[in-house]
Amino acid sequence: MMEPIDRRSLLSAGVAGLCAATLGLGASPRRDVGKGKPVVVASANGLQTVAKAMDLILVGADPLDAAIEGVAIVEADPNDQSVGYGGMPNEDGVVELDAAVMHGPTANGGAVAALQNIMHPAAVARLVMQRTDHCLLVGEGALRFAQMHGFPEVNLLTEASRKIWLHWKETLSDQDDRFPPPDDQLDPVVQQFFGIRGTGTIHCSALDTHGNLGCVTTTSGLYFKIPGRVGDSPILGAGLYLDNEVGSAGSTGRGEANLLNCSSLRIVEALRAGKAPQDAALEACRQIARTNLNPKLQDDQGRPNFDVTFYCVRKDGNFGGASLWSGARMAVHDGESARLVDCAALYDRKINES
Ligand code: GLY
Repeated sequence: MMEPIDRRSLLSAGVAGLCAATLGLGASPRRDVGKGKPVVVASANGLQTVAKAMDLILVGADPLDAAIEGVAIVEADPNDQSVGYGGMPNEDGVVELDAAVMHGPTANGGAVAALQNIMHPAAVARLVMQRTDHCLLVGEGALRFAQMHGFPEVNLLTEASRKIWLHWKETLSDQDDRFPPPDDQLDPVVQQFFGIRGTGTIHCSALDTHGNLGCVTTTSGLYFKIPGRVGDSPILGAGLYLDNEVGSAGSTGRGEANLLNCSSLRIVEALRAGKAPQDAALEACRQIARTNLNPKLQDDQGRPNFDVTFYCVRKDGNFGGASLWSGARMAVHDGESARLVDCAALYDRKINES
């Protein structure tokens, strides 16, 4: 098995190029460009994602392939600590990635969960969809599958993420044998980070010029999670869902809320029933609020003390987003420009960032 390597040797050894090359594994041949109006939506960290995906759709790329290439920018970005390389590790300091894809024209999907050492888990998820009779591979099996298909192994834990994780571990308890440095000696990356225990993720849904849909959700999941914890992102119906006759939806935020409510499936079914995208997304927020009965997960007014955001595009190109708490935005490209737009919200106060 290949030894994981750090970014310096990764770059010098040309592994970065190999990571990029494996992104193309399983991509469909380009086809003619149709007459329909394409739309790409993503979470707010996906401005470059929607731009890349739209560029590809406009030269005939499959919508799922376009979305995978779009989110790969964020998967490879060490400064996005919620996805891929540089993602926050689990409580043992190991980065474990979750990702899933769905492909409208073939009504198919694939996913990987708790995958270590692979920079582009969404591309591996596409191969699970195409080259196995399964929908989800996890952990060691997912890693072996990725190795088998030539994905290079990379140490996903950057120095910044390691320092942040170490500080989290050193400050967990004042009853143990670990001593954090005094506050005035904290590394600036640690100082900047703390305050919020977040989750993070990127979702992207793409509608091409033929009215075909593809979507992807990819994440390093909840910061400092219990090893093996899997969120909603690799679960078809929870962290993403599409039906090529109806629309596509996906989510960021507290994954457990979407696992308990199959939120993305709900949104697509609400679209099928005739709801507008933003209303369908708001309905999923209401469902989470209605079923969030654990007092530990409620504020003093019984509202969720976490956030979840939904992103949705309908087959006709209409799109919308909604979150539990106000302040969320989504990235959109409708063929003219990439921009951030406001999401609707159930509650008028932003308390968390996902
Ligand atoms: N929504 C990302 C996660 O909970 O892992």
